[in-house]
Amino acid sequence: MSTSEDVCRKDLKVIHGCPLTYAFVLNWEKIEEFQSRPGDIVVTTYPKSGTTWLSEIVDMVLNDGNVEKCKRDVITSKVPMLELSVPGLRKSGVELLKTTPSPRIIKTHLPIALLPKSFWENKCKMIYLARNGKDVAVSYYHFDLMNNLQPFPGTWEEYLEKFLAGNVAYGSWFDHVKSWWEKREGYPLIYLCYEDLKQNPKKEIKKIASFLDKTLDEETLDRIIHHTSFEMMKENPLVNYTHLPTAIMDHSKSPFMRKGVVGDWKNYFTVAQNEKFDAIYKKKLSGTTLEFCTDIQST
Ligand code: PPS
Repeated sequence: MSTSEDVCRKDLKVIHGCPLTYAFVLNWEKIEEFQSRPGDIVVTTYPKSGTTWLSEIVDMVLNDGNVEKCKRDVITSKVPMLELSVPGLRKSGVELLKTTPSPRIIKTHLPIALLPKSFWENKCKMIYLARNGKDVAVSYYHFDLMNNLQPFPGTWEEYLEKFLAGNVAYGSWFDHVKSWWEKREGYPLIYLCYEDLKQNPKKEIKKIASFLDKTLDEETLDRIIHHTSFEMMKENPLVNYTHLPTAIMDHSKSPFMRKGVVGDWKNYFTVAQNEKFDAIYKKKLSGTTLEFCTDIQST
């Protein structure tokens, strides 16, 4: 029987071509066989793209901006992560979801090919949130420093090489954002961007509400924007991940709610690293209409 210590700082395990966090793969058959319910709402992202932010927004929208209702539990229980599983620590995402009342909000980072078929069969609503890859890389590097379920990231230089090659949990950022973008036709799926949410939260939250068949008045929208601002979420112990044991997430290495800005990559990327990123981006994402904003000046 494994314990949480047995799964810390382990190498990633490749499942159907995609590297995944070692601890999560122990539970893989249960994830693959997962049965969705037609009313499930899937919050789907590449890691470090604002998943927690979007999860809290969706919960607020479904609860008509009622802050007290949204304080009913920690984010990991309100919005279970489908593939999460830490032996000996807590219920897995799959276990937790069995007893979660509908409408369930389900978090996942799985690429399209690994998402359980049942979600497509039941035509579950999906909200994809993408973030520019340069800020994702910086955020992911800091996350891997503090999250002991992930392999140790090494230096920033070493980490960025792994990120660019797709040798990080959930594989290539380029492939993830592109394949979800291409999937949006023909499914109840909206594709949002972190940078747009940052620049004009009201507009993006209205899109989310309309997608979820909710009409919210101005006062409610303003309350949701305030409650889900970075400053509020950073101080909120129900959403800032400080409820997890330090053995799993060590916030002294880097806080989960780190900076929450657009353009922090400029503090980390060298000119050469930036050129390399741009060259891969051009190659991998040519031919798509997908565009990212990477600069705070233009947001
Ligand atoms: S995870 O572990 O993949 O689920 O992480 P995820 O929640 O996707 O991403 C964490 C990053 O999102 C930032 N964040 C926010 N930004 C703006 N506003 C709000 N409210 C907010 N909440 C979380 C968080 O700080 C991480 O980004 P970085 O760049 O590291 O600060």
